[in-house]
Amino acid sequence: MVGTLVMYIVKFFCNTVKRTNARPKRLIQKNHAELKNHGIFKLQFQIRSYSEVINTADSKQKSVLTSKKISESAVYENIYKVFPNDLNSYGTVFGGMVMSELDRIASVVAERHSGHTCVTASVDAMHFLGPAGQGDILLFYASVNRSWHTSMEIGAKVLADNFKTGEHRHIISAYFTFVALDENKKPTDVPQITLETPIEKRRHTEAGERRELRRKEKEDRHLSRQTYGL
Ligand SMILES: CC(C)(COP(=O)(O)OP(=O)(O)OC[C@H]1O[C@@H](n2cnc3c(N)ncnc32)[C@H](O)[C@@H]1OP(=O)(O)O)[C@@H](O)C(=O)NCCC(=O)NCCS
Repeated sequence: MVGTLVMYIVKFFCNTVKRTNARPKRLIQKNHAELKNHGIFKLQFQIRSYSEVINTADSKQKSVLTSKKISESAVYENIYKVFPNDLNSYGTVFGGMVMSELDRIASVVAERHSGHTCVTASVDAMHFLGPAGQGDILLFYASVNRSWHTSMEIGAKVLADNFKTGEHRHIISAYFTFVALDENKKPTDVPQITLETPIEKRRHTEAGERRELRRKEKEDRHLSRQTYGL
């Protein structure tokens, strides 16, 4: 009797381990049918084990929903060829055009990461490091640096590529904050980030510092409006 029971337990444990990565709900249905053929003690043992299978599956599903790799949403080397209508009166690339392109590309990253429509909440530290000219090829890069509850910081940069000389120049860097909106246009939760590389970890930390600054600036703006009765 005891020997048979031990045999059942070992057999069941092996089956459970084998099937944990399969479809747990079907596993439960199938094994509930099997349970009816055996004693109460085995029933209790199996139900406890099945609840572990369900919990494992649920937590795996939750982590898939709440965390995504940066590479899943990043834009690498989006190419824009500069033509005469992209230039300002000095013959260099019009900054507003580059900002607009960057905003579009960063919004693609935010929407891919969150799975929601996103709006630009703020843009900070947009630095024009050097000019680009006619004939240059602009290379846009953008990726999520960090996500919080409903907002995400997207880091973006643009290189100018001179196809004759092969020279690459870093012309702009910027940080965008996007907020994901639900179908009622209310801020909604976004997935967290799975950090994979030292660069991603550094950007993640720095994004936290910038968020602190943004929060402080917001408080200052609020205080100043109160002070001047605006
Ligand atoms: C962005 C917007 C949705 C935020 O709405 P809100 O009512 O202030 O929302 P909340 O105060 O609940 O904040 C929601 C999130 O936005 C972030 N946020 C709000 N204002 C921000 C700002 N100026 N900079 C950065 N993040 C900001 C908050 O930190 C919060 O992030 P978290 O949930 O990750 O912690 C709202 O201000 C808006 O619709 N702005 C216009 C956006 C737009 O039209 N952009 C295109 C311009 S042409």
